[in-house]
Amino acid sequence: MDNRVYIFDTTLRDGEQVPGCQLNTIEKIEVAKVLEQLGVDVIEAGFPISSPGDFKSVVEISKAVTWPTICALTRAVEKDIDVAAESLKYAKRGRIHTGIGTSPYHIISKLNSNPEEILERAVAAVKYAKRYVEDVEFYAEDAGRSDNVYLARVVEAVIKAGATVVNIPDTTGYCLPSEFGEKIKFLFENVPNIHKAIVSTHCHNDLGMATANTIAGVMNGARQVEVTINGIGERAGNTSLEEVVMILRSHKELDLHTNINTKNIYKTSKLISSLMNMPVQPNKAIVGRNAFAHSSGIHQDGVLKNRENYEIIDPVEVGINESSIVLTARSGRAALNHHLDMLGVKLDKEKLDDVYQDFLLLADKKKDIKEDDLLVLVGERGIGERRIKLDFLQVVTGKNLIPMATLRLDIAGEKFTATESGNGPVDAAIKAVKAIIHRKVTLQEFLIQAINKGSDDIGKVHMQVEHENNIFNGFGANTDIITASVEAFLDAINKIGNSEHATDVKSN
Ligand code: KIV
Ligand code: ZN
Repeated sequence: MDNRVYIFDTTLRDGEQVPGCQLNTIEKIEVAKVLEQLGVDVIEAGFPISSPGDFKSVVEISKAVTWPTICALTRAVEKDIDVAAESLKYAKRGRIHTGIGTSPYHIISKLNSNPEEILERAVAAVKYAKRYVEDVEFYAEDAGRSDNVYLARVVEAVIKAGATVVNIPDTTGYCLPSEFGEKIKFLFENVPNIHKAIVSTHCHNDLGMATANTIAGVMNGARQVEVTINGIGERAGNTSLEEVVMILRSHKELDLHTNINTKNIYKTSKLISSLMNMPVQPNKAIVGRNAFAHSSGIHQDGVLKNRENYEIIDPVEVGINESSIVLTARSGRAALNHHLDMLGVKLDKEKLDDVYQDFLLLADKKKDIKEDDLLVLVGERGIGERRIKLDFLQVVTGKNLIPMATLRLDIAGEKFTATESGNGPVDAAIKAVKAIIHRKVTLQEFLIQAINKGSDDIGKVHMQVEHENNIFNGFGANTDIITASVEAFLDAINKIGNSEHATDVKSN
């Protein structure tokens, strides 16, 4: 049997059914393009008969996307299939996904019908869809609670009618993994023409078993999995794409692979979460904020010795490049040193001990310590020599006054002074720096934050400046936020100096 597992993404159909997660067509196109870069095989782009918006989205996604198959959902109803076919007319590869309920609940209490009539309708829908497209997928809704013998009859009949893919949804998320795996196995053993189609899983997470059920399906022969990014979807959601992909990748003994470019997983997850206003729970496998975060000293030490001591996946594989070592009051010197190292700060043992003591005091006050906090800690200890230093700063500001700043810079031992006015005191001070410094820089980002809560608190300033198409980050901290801002600006400017060794001062 083929060891390729096809990824059918239904974020834009089942995922988008979640209340409050609706996207407009432009956003759907953006998502579809990102899914294409991720490497999904099929994008279920919508349920075209359900609304003009869904119809338009399928049309536009079909135009915008090249490689993945574009799939449109229908009921086993001719009008639905006509509209789906129309919506797919620009798709390079189009698929109609039609189907009907096969469980006693659906046959009797939803459709008010009987098993023979449902079987006929299933076959008729597939044959009708085949008039438009070669690629027809059939779903047996609520297959999870359907009788296996009856399900096998339906599957055999729809494959005979031309279905290229048969989808076995656990619509209500009820099955146990062993039960779902058995169901797929039963189909392989009891449907004579099963090898003429691809068997697909479509699991919901009502009992938290969607991923386990999907994997059970794959282990028993299914070769397409229907999934969503971040596991979003009706009620408790669908199977999450990132979980299935990383399970298959981690368990090499299964010898199954997908076409997913795993390095795009994290950014795709972030995009979906922000466009759909659906935060990802911090402990969500693979993409949650804490999925790779180590906070206890013992774990941190173990990870720093060998990542695999506590990690089964390298976060870089899913596109997470940040350190997984979180600094908290439980962190040891090894973790602190690791972070300082990443910031380019090298300390000898004695200095590291001193900074560690300050770090513990701060960590008792703050839940988690960020890089800027560390820079404050090492900065307060006078670590890190700068070529351009602030020597003096005086600012005059107030209501109905034009803010004026006079400052003196020490550039490699020489002193330069300038006075400028500005829209505010920070603007005046930055203009005074620019009056002395030669380089053409543009301020891109300016962020002020307090470390703690009191009015006597230290203000932290982050600046991002652009110089000749390169971005330089600067950081400053002081109880006076204007001084902190100038320090942040100079920090960035010093980094430019470090990178190109050009002259710092204006020539005139
Ligand atoms: O959960 C389900 O059964 C579905 C079908 C429409 C495929 O979403
Ligand atoms: Zn579903």
